[in-house]
Amino acid sequence: MTTCPDIKTAVRLWVKSIDVMSEWILGQYLREYIYHTETIAENAAKIASRCHLDEQKAYVLGLLHDYGKKTNQKISGKSHFMTGYDELTVMGWSDVARINLTHSFPEKDFDYKDYSSYPLADLQRAKALISQLDYDDYDRLIQLCDMFAEATSTVSYQKRLQRIRERYGLKEEQTIVLERKAAENKAYFDAKCGCDIYDLLRIEY
Ligand SMILES: [Fe+2]
Repeated sequence: MTTCPDIKTAVRLWVKSIDVMSEWILGQYLREYIYHTETIAENAAKIASRCHLDEQKAYVLGLLHDYGKKTNQKISGKSHFMTGYDELTVMGWSDVARINLTHSFPEKDFDYKDYSSYPLADLQRAKALISQLDYDDYDRLIQLCDMFAEATSTVSYQKRLQRIRERYGLKEEQTIVLERKAAENKAYFDAKCGCDIYDLLRIEY
């Protein structure tokens, strides 16, 4: 049984997320969501085809990894990762539901302090759920690609983490774990693809 939608179904869900989001978010942020998700889908598919993973699945997971962002956390009181996980689970797309959860937590045993903008109850639930998973290549792939798409540009993970710190007023030590996991994931796919991922995706660093 497939638990990942085909591209046509995925695009339909993605367009729905844009429609819902457009009701409450400013145009600039909506454009960033569109760019971010499209770019991650394209980059994930590019890497997948190079290292013999399922290119179509990688594209779909990239496109829908932030599906939960359609809901305003300030109103719902629920994080985008738990919203995406719960809604896609109900729809029966468990592969995509899983990615909505795992893309936010490259380190499974994360520190709650590093995720202070999210509700603690969601973080506790997320930690319990991911503790039962063994991260596979698709979890790692989307975690890595998520590190390259910043606003409306494609950048190195080092640059993206710097912008994340500026945006959320985080100290350098709060992104150390994310930086280490990004380096690990990049090294993993560099080896798997037999090339530097930055060259493959034309990222300057
Ligand atoms: Fe993302």
